[in-house]
Amino acid sequence: MRDEIRAAIDRVVESQIFINGSEVEGLEEEVAAYSQCRYGIGVSSGTDALLAALMAIDIRPGDEIITSPYTFFATAGTIWRLGARPVFVDIDPLTYNMDTSPSGGLEAAITPRTRAIMPVHLYGQMAEMDPIMEIAAKHKLIVIEDAAQAIGSEYKGRRAGSIGHLGCFSFFPSKNLGGFGDGGMVTANDEALAERVRLLRGHGAFPKYYHKFVGGNFRLDALQAAVLRVKLKYLDSWSAGRQRNAAIYRELFAKAGLDQVGLPMEAGQRRHIYNQFVIRVTKRDELIAHLKKNQIGTEIYYPVPLHLQECFASLGHQQGDYPASERAATETIALPIYPELSDADKSRIVEVIASSGLV
Ligand SMILES: Cc1ncc(COP(=O)(O)O)c(C=O)c1O
Repeated sequence: MRDEIRAAIDRVVESQIFINGSEVEGLEEEVAAYSQCRYGIGVSSGTDALLAALMAIDIRPGDEIITSPYTFFATAGTIWRLGARPVFVDIDPLTYNMDTSPSGGLEAAITPRTRAIMPVHLYGQMAEMDPIMEIAAKHKLIVIEDAAQAIGSEYKGRRAGSIGHLGCFSFFPSKNLGGFGDGGMVTANDEALAERVRLLRGHGAFPKYYHKFVGGNFRLDALQAAVLRVKLKYLDSWSAGRQRNAAIYRELFAKAGLDQVGLPMEAGQRRHIYNQFVIRVTKRDELIAHLKKNQIGTEIYYPVPLHLQECFASLGHQQGDYPASERAATETIALPIYPELSDADKSRIVEVIASSGLV
C-alpha cells in the first residue's frame, strides 16, 4: 500500500486542506455506505465518537446509561465525563457481550433516569441486538452501539453501527481499519441526530462562530481520512484473513487436544471480524509469561472490569457484582490474529501453548 498511501498523503499536502474537506467527506460517505448507514461523521477518536454521540442525545448529570462492565474504559469513561452514571449489566461468558437473556438483568437495570443503552460489540462480534432494540423501544431509550472493535461485523445481515440510533467506531491502529494515529466515526440513520453530531464536532457552531450549544473539537484530520480511505479498500480482505486465522487456530487447538482452552464462540447469525482472538484459560498469567519467554506477544482485554476501577469507586460496586466479567478479566488472553500472521506462526503458537503444561 505504500505508494497508494504516499499518494494520498501527498494529495492532502498539495491541497493544504488539513481540517475537514473532501477527504473527510469522502471517508464519511464510504464508511457510512460500508456500514449500511445513511450518515457518517468523522471524529478524532473512538472515545470522541462516544462522547459526541452521548452529547448529541443531550446526556446530562444524573442520567443513567446501561452498558457492559467488560470493555475498554472509554465506554464508561465518556458517560462519566458528562456527569451521567454508567449502569452495568454483566456479560454472557461465551460471547463476552452484554447478557441479553431474560435473566441477564438488562430490563431490570432500567430506572426512570435511564436514557440509553450502550451495547459493546466486543472483539469484533456484535451483541445480541434484537432484544436490546426491543427493550429500548419499549422503554423509549436511545441505543448507541460501541462498534469501536467491530467495523463490518454483522448481526442478521445488518452491519455494526446501523441498528442502534448511533454507532461509534475507532480507527486506532490496532483496529481492523486502523489509521496512522487516532481517528473515529459516528454513524447514524437519522438526519437530525447526524447533524447534531456534526455540529458538536466543531464546538456546536453554525454558522461559524455562532454557537447553538457547547461541543468540542472532535474533528478528524484530513491526513488520517486520506490514509483510511486507501485502507478501507483492503478491509474486507484483512477481515477475511483474520477469520481464516481464527478457523485455523480452531483446527490446531482441536488437533492438539487442548479441550481445556475456551475458544471464541461465534454466536448465530453473525459475521465476526476477529478484531481479537481471545482464549480463556485458568492459569492465565503463567501462560502469558511462558508465551512471552517464547517471544509470542499477547494482551489482556481487559484485566480489571469497569465496575472495579478505582475511579468509579463512588458507584459503590464490589467484587462479586458482575461475576462473569470478573472471571473473564482473570482468564482471557488475546493471541496474535493480524491478517498477515503465517500458518507456521499459528502452529508454533499452539505448540508452545500445548507444551507449556499450563492448560
Ligand atoms: C470498545 C471500545 N470502545 C471505545 C474505544 C475508544 O476508541 P479510541 O481508542 O479510538 O479512542 C475503544 C478503542 O480502544 C474500544 O475498544
